[in-house]
Amino acid sequence: MGKLAITGGEPSRKKRFDAWPMYTESERHALEDVLVNHNWGGQPFPGKHADAFGKKFAEFHTAKYGQCVNTGTVAIQAALKAIDIRPGDEVIVPAYTWEGTVGPVLLVNAVPVFVDIDPETYCLDAKLIEQAITPRTRAILPVHLGMRFADLDVITPLAAKHKLKVIEDCAHAHGGMWRDKGAGSIGDLGAFSFQSSKLITAGEGGAVITNNLEYFERVQTYINAGRASVTDKFHHRIIGFNYRLGEFQAAVLGAQLERLPEQAQVRQTNMASFESRLGNTRGLGLLKPEPRITRLAPYGYVLKYFAEQMKEIPRAAFVAALQLEGIPCDGLFYEPVYRSSLFPLNPGDFPALSWGRPAPLDLRKMYKCPVSERAAYHEAIWFSHHLFLGGKENVDSIADAIFKVLENIEELRGLEHRAITAQGQSRADRES
Ligand SMILES: Cc1ncc(COP(=O)(O)O)c(C=O)c1O
Repeated sequence: MGKLAITGGEPSRKKRFDAWPMYTESERHALEDVLVNHNWGGQPFPGKHADAFGKKFAEFHTAKYGQCVNTGTVAIQAALKAIDIRPGDEVIVPAYTWEGTVGPVLLVNAVPVFVDIDPETYCLDAKLIEQAITPRTRAILPVHLGMRFADLDVITPLAAKHKLKVIEDCAHAHGGMWRDKGAGSIGDLGAFSFQSSKLITAGEGGAVITNNLEYFERVQTYINAGRASVTDKFHHRIIGFNYRLGEFQAAVLGAQLERLPEQAQVRQTNMASFESRLGNTRGLGLLKPEPRITRLAPYGYVLKYFAEQMKEIPRAAFVAALQLEGIPCDGLFYEPVYRSSLFPLNPGDFPALSWGRPAPLDLRKMYKCPVSERAAYHEAIWFSHHLFLGGKENVDSIADAIFKVLENIEELRGLEHRAITAQGQSRADRES
């Protein structure tokens, strides 16, 4: 029996962290308002709460227009339809992100082109984009991950130079600002998710923001089953589905948005305190601080783990040990998308993969992005934002558990098998 919980010792933290999502009386009142008004759905379009939320959310991100939709994946898909991505067009995406960034590209029968991430930010490496541009490229879809931004100072002029559009995947970036401009307002459109883990949530939900009225109208018609948009200045009709958000969800989002700045502040204070505890601990690192981020979106907190400084004890063992010490965290949070279980695709389902090519593209075999692979399989450790919402004692308990595992790292030697089982158990716990 060792000192670590994974080898039979006492866990460092026994109390569970407060659950996420959280709510107050504001959500209850907002829900009651919908209930008694008898207008529960998205028709007449837009609903009162959806309309109010869309406007406030856009304004909060310095954009002119905002439209609620029913998920973040639909938000990306609607944004792709807004810029008229056509079958066979290529869209540049980061290799390290959730599959939900890439699925919408395939669903409009476009071709995702994977580009590696920057090791300092874990976001799309702007330096590598130009070499991935071909005559078929139509758009760049950067994702703002790990409380960092893809380098929009490079990406937007590059897109302009090559006549490409930019859609920002802001599923992790609610409230974030780059040089005082809101996430999603710098590219042509921004797509957000309000799925349960997100910084504001209605269980599910999404939003698209933009400064371009024509794109906004196209989003509205696409997500409202092809009906005319509210302003209908450009008279677009796009075959779409009912992707509207219901009023109960929009009402909850309104209440959550009010609370976001205050919660973001608490998280940031706690993160700063956590980092001062960590100092320059051997074996661990952080993503590079970015002064151009003028308002932080404290969503997924990333620690880097360097096995080579830790006697080659793999990340899986470190993460499993930390989980059993009572600290929820994730190692294999994302895989490089081309290696995920989405692939291989049946080329019959995605005809554009074959057009103009001797054989269908096999997206799984075509790519090897070393920085994404390292982050995914060896280096990144993700902590949910809600761990940073309580008092200082919560972050102290995370730091204490980390130091305990590091001090007893030798106990992890040879425990890879147990580590993987423990990670699986812990993830299931959190999802239940
Ligand atoms: C990076 C990223 N993109 C897109 C999405 C899609 O959002 P949703 O799950 O609401 O469809 C998510 C959500 O988890 C995400 O994390």
